[in-house]
Amino acid sequence: MKKITLIVAMAQEATPLIAFFDLQPCETFTSKATCRAFAGQYKGLDISLVINGTDPHFQVECVGTESATIATYQALTHFQPDLLINAGTCGAFAEKGGEIGKVYIGERIRFFDHRIPMGDYEAYGDGNFLCPEAVTLAQKLRMPLATVCTGNSLDMSPTDAAILQQELVPVKEMEAAAVARVASLWGTPLITIKSITDLMDSNQTTAEEFMENLALASQNLKQSVIRVLDKIAEESHGTAL
Ligand code: ADE
Repeated sequence: MKKITLIVAMAQEATPLIAFFDLQPCETFTSKATCRAFAGQYKGLDISLVINGTDPHFQVECVGTESATIATYQALTHFQPDLLINAGTCGAFAEKGGEIGKVYIGERIRFFDHRIPMGDYEAYGDGNFLCPEAVTLAQKLRMPLATVCTGNSLDMSPTDAAILQQELVPVKEMEAAAVARVASLWGTPLITIKSITDLMDSNQTTAEEFMENLALASQNLKQSVIRVLDKIAEESHGTAL
């Protein structure tokens, strides 16, 4: 049976997925890691989902690249999936086609704030992970493609903004490139699915817009994950949708 692991940062993003796929909590990884795992089956696929969990000191959801790296490492080691899916929310630019609740598939994933202008370190810092499996799938499902740009701040410095603007269709989030770096070391294919909570060229603050639209974006994210898993199940088993 094909094994797929979903890496989802926040509980709010994961809850609709856990409910729809009826995933059950399963054994935690190590006593020190905050991440939590859920598992189940869907249309002949073995599905697991890992969330980052809650920071023990600050009592907020763990977000960002450190947590994503730990979650992905634990997930790959424990579940040994054939495919990783990083599903989550993102910011985008209205002037580049972004709309609240619109869902993109990542054709390329890069860091935008790992700037190391020192020979080969520059390319290493950017990452630039290609996702050919995701592009093929998006084309079959007629889903829009974006460059997923990862950094560890919710806001944007002028330097960050200039780098993001260089991309044709950039979406900004805080985990995908970390997931991609670990996935590439393991040789595991990765599909990223990102749903827009905020438009970075709007008049509202990002934090306000994010909170206002998190539930809607998470519902749309769930619908897109279902579409992707239905397609993978259909292709794995030759069954009609
Ligand atoms: N997640 C959702 N919106 C975001 C943004 N604007 N920046 C980083 N991560 C996000």
